[in-house]
Amino acid sequence: MKFFLDTGNVEEARKVAAWGLLDGVTTNPSLVAKEKRGFKEIVLEMCSITPGPVSAEVIAVEASAIIDQAHEIRTWAENVIVKVPLIPEGIKALHVLSGEGIKCNVTLCFSPLQALLAAKNGAAYISPFVGRLDDVGTDGMQLVEEIHTIYQNYGYTTEIIVASARTSMHVLQAAMIGADITTMPFAVMEKLFNHPLTDKGLSSFLADWEKSGLKIG
Ligand code: G3P
Repeated sequence: MKFFLDTGNVEEARKVAAWGLLDGVTTNPSLVAKEKRGFKEIVLEMCSITPGPVSAEVIAVEASAIIDQAHEIRTWAENVIVKVPLIPEGIKALHVLSGEGIKCNVTLCFSPLQALLAAKNGAAYISPFVGRLDDVGTDGMQLVEEIHTIYQNYGYTTEIIVASARTSMHVLQAAMIGADITTMPFAVMEKLFNHPLTDKGLSSFLADWEKSGLKIG
């Protein structure tokens, strides 16, 4: 499973890239707005940190304006992906953009039928928001399972990005389902390393070595 970082913060992206775990980046207008920097500037820097796809979201809600913004964003870097909202005008724009060979990540997906619409129109990626579904008492990961089944039934190549991932369990469940990608905040990625028995085991190994007087080399 690929790991994307869901952030507008380039320092976070650099840290994950240094771990060798950065397969791509997703941004959204809220994440970018927090950074107090230019949108294009952030996206360009992300594109230089990872060779993987970097999603940059359009702000328009009408198909022709979505297409115009997508054309602009697409010129920014080789690995930039255009994020479009899962609304009728977004799906209409997707039809045109996919036909032009522009890779789109269809965002704000909350139902399996929405995901089917995106796949039918050639979305490169679909982003089901699992955490926001959990927030309203609906099982977000069940949506991922349903999308995975539908895409397998028909051989769609649209990759599933498990988005709005808030916990390590979301990442584990995504991997168990066989989702292509999980995009997660830095805080979630950092937690994937943690296990108290790892820390305890390492402390005792180091203490025993210290007492022994042994040396490497
Ligand atoms: O980038 C889209 C998605 O991952 C947002 O997550 O935590 O704001 O629901 P969240």
